[in-house]
Amino acid sequence: MKAVVLGSGGWGTALSLVLCDNGHEVTLWSHSPEKAVLLAQTRENPQLKGVQLPEQLRFTSDISCIRDAELVVSAAPSFAVRATAEKAAPYLGAGAALVSVSKGIERDTNLRMSEIWQNTVSSCCKVVALSGPSHAEEVGIRMPTGCVAASPDEAAARLAQDAFMNDYLRIYTSPDIVGVELCGALKNIVALSCGICDGMGYQDNTKALLMTRAMAEIARLGERLGGDRLTFGGLAGMGDLIVTCTSMHSRNRRAGILIGQGKTPREAMAEIGAVVEGYYAAESVEQLSRKEGVEMPICHCAYEVLYHGKQIRDVVAELMSRAKKGEITSGWRYPMR
Ligand SMILES: NC(=O)c1ccc[n+]([C@@H]2O[C@H](COP(=O)([O-])OP(=O)(O)OC[C@H]3O[C@@H](n4cnc5c(N)ncnc54)[C@H](O)[C@@H]3O)[C@@H](O)[C@H]2O)c1
Repeated sequence: MKAVVLGSGGWGTALSLVLCDNGHEVTLWSHSPEKAVLLAQTRENPQLKGVQLPEQLRFTSDISCIRDAELVVSAAPSFAVRATAEKAAPYLGAGAALVSVSKGIERDTNLRMSEIWQNTVSSCCKVVALSGPSHAEEVGIRMPTGCVAASPDEAAARLAQDAFMNDYLRIYTSPDIVGVELCGALKNIVALSCGICDGMGYQDNTKALLMTRAMAEIARLGERLGGDRLTFGGLAGMGDLIVTCTSMHSRNRRAGILIGQGKTPREAMAEIGAVVEGYYAAESVEQLSRKEGVEMPICHCAYEVLYHGKQIRDVVAELMSRAKKGEITSGWRYPMR
């Protein structure tokens, strides 16, 4: 199959490698011409150090390369997805499948990444979100990994499954694109929060409490917005939350650690030197939870720390002294039958 990957960061590059391994004809598009030249000359991406890129992988910064592509992978950072979609729109074939792998919510509009594509490219109907616990650094060295290809269009989800699945990357299909995309965007806020906890010296119990209760609120918002409850316990949900909140590969967690150690969010992001998507997602989720009337105390506290400089010890005290409640607020009743 002829495939084009849009975005030559770590993840776009790792997925290009997967598609090459699977025998597809792959072009990796960079938004900067210099980056395309560098990749072609060195066959290595500084964002994926030590990974030799296959000879058959082509590099370009000319967006018209998607003209005949059957599969287009959108792997730009979330802030750049709309600009990339607008550039790509005139060339995208009506029959092409678009696989969105960016994790975020658009600032101001609060749209999911696949919604941006659907709004921008009217002719493109086969849209899939691919998400799950998948650090580019590990896929790049072919570590066994699992992801979910989600689309309401079953044929499209299966097409993505067929394109990406191999002996080190297992792909499951799902009809729940809403839940899968929300999981991917919201876990970055939790990774930042877990990093803050680590930086402050809180330990394992605190982190497990934070991750589990944060997932409860992600699921609450996700269900309100049309996601399926079961998705949140799956690979794109709990799976991705675990990997992001516990790994030093996560730049969201690393930024959180710096904030927990006393840096401001701006200083932490400058030190990380790459987009910390959880910071922006925190603002979108604050808006969405207010609009939808969904209680999200952990995400709200993260927002207060990140945007209003609230003291971390104060938000921890606030969270720990919330009113007593049952763990599961809907569906469980005493006595247990
Ligand atoms: N890195 C991972 O392990 C991983 C895994 C799953 C999903 N993702 C998601 O994939 C997306 C890309 O992440 P990444 O880690 O590959 O990014 P990255 O930070 O490694 O790279 C970002 C790349 O985007 C490019 N870029 C900068 N401005 C751009 C613009 N205006 N238009 C297009 N491209 C631009 C830069 O050249 C840079 O190489 C993110 O949404 C991320 O959440 C990443």
